[in-house]
Amino acid sequence: MASYIGNAIPRLDGRAKVTGAAKYAAEFNVPGLVYGSVVTSTIAKGRIRAIDTREALRVEGVIDVLTHENRPRMAESDDAYTDDVAAEGRPFRPLYDDRVLFNLQPIALVLAETSEAARFAASLLRVDYEQDAHVTDLFAARDKATAVSQDSFALSPAKLRGDAAKALAAAARRHEAEYSSPVEHHNPMEPYATTVIWEGGGKLTVHEKTQGVQNVQRYLCRVFEAKPEDIRVLSRYVGGAFGSGLRPQYAAVLAVLAARALKRSVRVVLTRQQMYGLGYRPATIHRIALAAKLDGRVDAITQEAIAMTSQYEEFARKDTIWSGALYQSAHARYAHALARLDVPTPCDMRAPGAATGVYALECAMDELAVALKLDPLELRYRAYSDRDQNAGVPYTSKELRECYRQGAEAFGWAKRNPEPRTMRDGRELVGWGMATGVWEALDVPITTRIALSANGHAEVACATSDIGTGTYTIMGQVTAEMLGLPLENVDVKLGDSTLPQSPVEGGSWIASSVSNAIAATCAMIREDLLNWARQIPGSPLVDAKLEDVALVDGSLALKGDTHRAVSIADAMRQGGADRIEHQKSLSPSDDGKHARNTHSAIFAEVKVDEQLGVIRVTRVVSAVAAGRILNPATARSQVMGGVVWGIGMALHEETLIDHKFGRIMNANIAEYHVPVNADVHDIDVIFVAEPDAIINPLGIKGLGEIGIVGVASAVANAVYHATGRRVRDLPITLDKLLG
Ligand code: MOS
Repeated sequence: MASYIGNAIPRLDGRAKVTGAAKYAAEFNVPGLVYGSVVTSTIAKGRIRAIDTREALRVEGVIDVLTHENRPRMAESDDAYTDDVAAEGRPFRPLYDDRVLFNLQPIALVLAETSEAARFAASLLRVDYEQDAHVTDLFAARDKATAVSQDSFALSPAKLRGDAAKALAAAARRHEAEYSSPVEHHNPMEPYATTVIWEGGGKLTVHEKTQGVQNVQRYLCRVFEAKPEDIRVLSRYVGGAFGSGLRPQYAAVLAVLAARALKRSVRVVLTRQQMYGLGYRPATIHRIALAAKLDGRVDAITQEAIAMTSQYEEFARKDTIWSGALYQSAHARYAHALARLDVPTPCDMRAPGAATGVYALECAMDELAVALKLDPLELRYRAYSDRDQNAGVPYTSKELRECYRQGAEAFGWAKRNPEPRTMRDGRELVGWGMATGVWEALDVPITTRIALSANGHAEVACATSDIGTGTYTIMGQVTAEMLGLPLENVDVKLGDSTLPQSPVEGGSWIASSVSNAIAATCAMIREDLLNWARQIPGSPLVDAKLEDVALVDGSLALKGDTHRAVSIADAMRQGGADRIEHQKSLSPSDDGKHARNTHSAIFAEVKVDEQLGVIRVTRVVSAVAAGRILNPATARSQVMGGVVWGIGMALHEETLIDHKFGRIMNANIAEYHVPVNADVHDIDVIFVAEPDAIINPLGIKGLGEIGIVGVASAVANAVYHATGRRVRDLPITLDKLLG
């Protein structure tokens, strides 16, 4: 009998994806499909005086042009537009009125019989604006930033420790500097896209690119005042999301609006350029001050973050809590302010808050190590904390020390010459840098349904998405293992709003939540089978207890004596059933007495061409402690993806806005740089053993986000070590390095 949990099982959806059998939101075809092309604003702020649609309407094949002036009715209350993961404020409403809140705002939808006609006609709209002055530059608005008022996601730790100002003033060694990160846009392979199938009678099937089908379903029902049974949202495959698909997107609203208006099926796909009108990591500025005693113990940490949000919503993420939590320090203080700009609301992007906040912290720690003349890894050991310093509680588990040890060993850190510019490879300077990563290990309420047939087949169902992280596979693995079935006998159903409840797939919380729910649902099935098995005359399990039996190889067997067993088929026959179905909702059991986190240690090697300033990241070792690893193959792939993204954050990614026009200048993947294969060299992922008997029954921590945290700082620290130049504003481009 194969064991599935903990084994590198190939992705269940892999074949469908590489053969093209997997269909994405824009690939569902029906006869008579209408194509919608979005027209977006060319100003950043103001009003639409008039939209002249006459020329567009004369194009052959054009059916209609929807604008705020002629659109069908949509809900009026703010609540209707507030989704499960909305920021505080008044959510944006597409085509709602004449106001322009940001550049690239959708202002019209051209509907035609072909996508070519729709797109051509969209180019013919004439829009007359009344323009207002705008501000899109975080640095220009930083002085007007105001403290975060909401306490949900941004949550500053309640307890400020000690007297940080005094400790800093009296410090034996201190380091203070400002670090910044730019706006970064999501560039998933799959664009924002919606295909709405008009099923007749007002019923709609919505194929949507999303991380949360039920979130989108509820949102659309509210916006269009529709009954829950009238809108079904499907998203069985997602071509990259990592935060961009958490909130419902305007493409979905426009496609449903059009389908209801025309009583036809409609598809709306955003162009790559239009995707820059939403979905980005906000730019941040961090002022960090660190104080240390001469023996290298950190004594004070302060972090003041300024991030950006829109004029209409307050998007804030936990940028500062990590510095307070991670290291032993008697004194700590943090502040988080937001500047309101004339831009769309930012959104989550892989490890929101941590990717930026920990970047600043871990570069500052490196600079403190230099000030102390101490190895940066040794500084982390001296500041090591077995308790969350903010909450003052121990962790459910924390094997960060092992991450440092195993990562350093695999990397060869001991051979590092601490002096910058001392290591060379031909005409390239070699630099070695390291950093710590940290993220949350959350569990969320979720429901799974499992049906087991007498012939040994099972179906497991949950409305979660699989955003490419491997959810199909791990759901299959856990079900197969818990029911003692071959993996190929298990069908996994997800990405359908009619399935049992799931929150959005994000925050690294689905793998652990859904796995524990599956285990609990399987326990109910096991209990039914045991009750029936006991009733069989002469049953070998007549006095067996539930906790003493397991399902193995198609039978219910006594643990430790598998010869005492009853087959699933025999037990079901006894019960007169040919199928058992159970549904179980599981809510996380957080005792409040422990911190729940994943950790990592990242070691990076860069080689810098001394004349040209070209930086190559030649090696990265990421050692991760994330509880029990369900599938080393998909887990490794998550961490590798995070490391690649971190390399992009360090060296490549930056959305450039022409602030005079409030318009993005590089809204395309030719000029918005991301790491390509030539930029990515050796990446070594290590999973450190981290048994955790507290966090949840299976001891699982999610690891969708930990992979990116700290990577940009490890690279930045390596660049300093190679060159002796400290660049604190990301990305580290060669002009900054040579300038
Ligand atoms: Mo993740 S940024 O919560 O998809």
